[in-house]
Amino acid sequence: MTKTIKIMLTGKDGQLGKALVERIPPGIKLVALGRQELDLNDKQACFNAVLEHRPDWVLNAGAYTVVDRAESEPELALAVNAAAPEAFAQALGEVGGRLLQVSTDFVFNGSQAHPYHPNQPVDPISIYGATKAEGERLIQKALPTTNHCILRTSWVYGPVGNNFCLTMLRLHRLKSAQNETLNVVADQIGCPTSTLNLADACWSAINHGTTGIHHFCDAGAASWYDFAIAIGNAGVAAGIIDQSAKVIPITSAEYPTPAKRPGYSLLDCTATRSALELEPNHWQKELSIVISKIPKST
Ligand SMILES: NC(=O)c1ccc[n+]([C@@H]2O[C@H](COP(=O)([O-])OP(=O)(O)OC[C@H]3O[C@@H](n4cnc5c(N)ncnc54)[C@H](OP(=O)(O)O)[C@@H]3O)[C@@H](O)[C@H]2O)c1
Repeated sequence: MTKTIKIMLTGKDGQLGKALVERIPPGIKLVALGRQELDLNDKQACFNAVLEHRPDWVLNAGAYTVVDRAESEPELALAVNAAAPEAFAQALGEVGGRLLQVSTDFVFNGSQAHPYHPNQPVDPISIYGATKAEGERLIQKALPTTNHCILRTSWVYGPVGNNFCLTMLRLHRLKSAQNETLNVVADQIGCPTSTLNLADACWSAINHGTTGIHHFCDAGAASWYDFAIAIGNAGVAAGIIDQSAKVIPITSAEYPTPAKRPGYSLLDCTATRSALELEPNHWQKELSIVISKIPKST
């Protein structure tokens, strides 16, 4: 008989957390924690939660993800993105168990022109990226490689939550109704990744006992401009919006934000896809699947 794996999930109410709960495979006993059950800004509480639940894995999908606001709240971002995973790692070091930490393409500076390999050195250019990179470092310090998996991903979106896809659908509807154009940055290249595939990758990593640093994204490459156009087209095709707005490509310099973002953040996922035995889905195909799950009233 296969052993039940006990998982302590954080961030259950986030977009990835919800997909993880929805797509839980058989053989998993889940303790799902949201902000109300566990404050990730409370390091001691994070440590104690592991001692209380004694999970086989902590799946840390909770995070401070407001990239621009992190520039003015660095202490809070650091506590949630670095001190909390450190506490999980330290507690797991005491009682046994593994940590799956979801991390980000924003740990890289974006100055190269070919996909980042998992073992390349990190060099974040934003507070958010720096706090996620620090979380990775502290986990690696507190736990042996055999006991942690750092799974980096990029441009996450899904049928629920705060994400670029749902924002663009709202803007397409608004701007097209007002006969206005939609300006979207075209000089940042990455890959959209659906919460559905990412959740499956997390569960697969746990089932395979995958450890070390890994990259998982949907397949292909896009600019935010490409993604915005595809979202408009898919939204119209699915009947979520009546028409799409005309999208105008702009530069990052024309759309200044508090946080700098990498100009290029494709992640090399080759080794991870093979370790997790997952066939990559092109982001455009995945976009149609995500859009088909969005309620028509959105
Ligand atoms: N979104 C992206 O584009 C992206 C890209 C690459 C990597 N990632 C990584 O993917 C993972 C999942 O992100 P996501 O997109 O699912 O983000 P999300 O939707 O913002 O979910 C994050 C969750 O963490 C919770 N949280 C934040 N601060 C907390 C605190 N102090 N105590 C307890 N819970 C707290 C949030 O709760 P509230 O809703 O109450 O704030 C939210 O439920 C994160 O590790 C993120 O860094 C995301």
